[in-house]
Amino acid sequence: MDAHIETRIDILRQHLIDPEICIRCNTCEETCPIDAITHDGVNYVVNAQVCNGCMACVPPCPTGAIDNWRNVLRSEAYSVDDQFGWDALPAQNEEVNAPVEVPAQNDEAPVASDTVRGSTVAPWSAARPYVQLYTHKAPALATVVGNFRLTDAAASSDIRHIMLDFGALPFPVLEGQSIGILPPGTSTDGRAHHARQYSIASPRDGERPGYNNISLTVKRVQREDGKGVCSNYLCDLQKGDVVTVIGPFGNTFLMPNHPDSHLLMICTGTGSAPMRAMTEYRRRRRATGETGKLMLFFGARTRGELPYFGPLMSLPKDFIDTNLAFSRMPGEAKRYVQDVMRERANDVAQLLGDGNTHVYVCGLRGMEDGVMQALEFIARSHGLDWPTLWEQLRREGRLHLETY
Ligand code: A2P
Repeated sequence: MDAHIETRIDILRQHLIDPEICIRCNTCEETCPIDAITHDGVNYVVNAQVCNGCMACVPPCPTGAIDNWRNVLRSEAYSVDDQFGWDALPAQNEEVNAPVEVPAQNDEAPVASDTVRGSTVAPWSAARPYVQLYTHKAPALATVVGNFRLTDAAASSDIRHIMLDFGALPFPVLEGQSIGILPPGTSTDGRAHHARQYSIASPRDGERPGYNNISLTVKRVQREDGKGVCSNYLCDLQKGDVVTVIGPFGNTFLMPNHPDSHLLMICTGTGSAPMRAMTEYRRRRRATGETGKLMLFFGARTRGELPYFGPLMSLPKDFIDTNLAFSRMPGEAKRYVQDVMRERANDVAQLLGDGNTHVYVCGLRGMEDGVMQALEFIARSHGLDWPTLWEQLRREGRLHLETY
């Protein structure tokens, strides 16, 4: 064998995750079909022994942190433990950075279709999002202009509506995008806290129309294991406080912009943030004569635990078809969003059969299976070929799943 070829064979194009950009949202670990991605309390990492470069994890990553590669000698590939210790990616060693023959699949970035349930592309008519305008190295500063509780005083969960103003700093966003918040301080190991990702709850033209501000829907998480640092930080913010922000993130969970497009939205708890953003955007454009339908399924423990209950219920019935599912109302049977979807099967099926319908699911991880099963049941019981429809929804950027 010729020495040149031998060198090529020994070089690995190692897949790595940039710890400076990663917002630890777990999307990659969930997406990886062969469990090559893992994490500790600090970093998400790729096991070079397992990764086959299938690229399934790359499109769903909201930040692009996943799309990093280093040419290394195969025998010197960075181990999982090496990567757990990183604060930043190592530089490319130019001595091993000879051209490498990369398998065709790596260039074409196919998505293993059986591993990603939802779309990895945006709706065709979505506006083009800006992503990562502000990074860890150059973050944006925003001022808190409001922080109020959305859940009843007696409710067990403290969910808050937090408004951030960027002043003169450009911070363009679209409904469905998220931002990263960098809480101040360090964790017990002395490292800076990681950014936490929050969906934006306001439309593109601002929480207050025409203002350069956004809102977030944040639930206070009380955990003894140190989790919840960022949600507590946010929930305790006072007007006038300054927050460090990175992003925006996300280029697929976006709303269609063509006027006759329908939105089928399914959420629980704080998963309502993007639904609020999309609904509010459409409400503001209502006067333009849009004909698209909005149908919402929203789950919470009780009425008092449902964020935005009041404003939601005052929206005109001919604008949005709202269906609430309460699981812990005293004296009432437990109902989940997927149960209520089945009760409204005829109308859901009508939407599913319409090529202009875009489906959004956001909230508890546990809900995703139940919702997908309900969609399948409804489709099948109304004569729709579910495997074909599902594939079409996915391919056309019409099925967006964001559960955590
Ligand atoms: P549950 O009363 O069983 O916890 P949370 O308040 O924890 O954010 O949850 C929001 C809502 O989602 C609650 O009504 C909760 O019901 C419900 N929920 C929990 N698990 C599932 C699931 N697997 N599918 C659908 N909804 C769920």
